[in-house]
Amino acid sequence: MSNRRTFLKGSFAAAVAAVLGTGSAYAADTPLFGSIVYTQDNPGRWAQKEGSHAPVITVAGNKVKVQTNHPMSEKHFIVRHTLVLADGSVLGSKNFAGTDPDAISQYDLPEGYTGGLYATSFCNLHDFWMSESKV
Ligand SMILES: [Fe+2]
Repeated sequence: MSNRRTFLKGSFAAAVAAVLGTGSAYAADTPLFGSIVYTQDNPGRWAQKEGSHAPVITVAGNKVKVQTNHPMSEKHFIVRHTLVLADGSVLGSKNFAGTDPDAISQYDLPEGYTGGLYATSFCNLHDFWMSESKV
């Protein structure tokens, strides 16, 4: 199981690195955006749904709040959030159920961290979304 986790973490980090490139901003014009990973600026086939699916990142001190402004119901809901640092390390994640009142997760930044933050949000009907922020 740990090999699988290591592989998945490495794969995710590699995918993020491939998509994001070496700069601080992701390359939103790559084919992956709008077809596999959806963003506020590239919602692809889910245009008009970005406001309720792109996760919102709020930083206050060393606390990070990720919120997806999406209605929650047993048939249609946000399944999971994950927060990833610029080096690909996963800071944390949270699973949700359709019975949860909202899709909000909170994380503690490592002491003194500066750099990129990448929040993902997965909707059971409208796929995988990502937002970027910096601290
Ligand atoms: Fe949705």
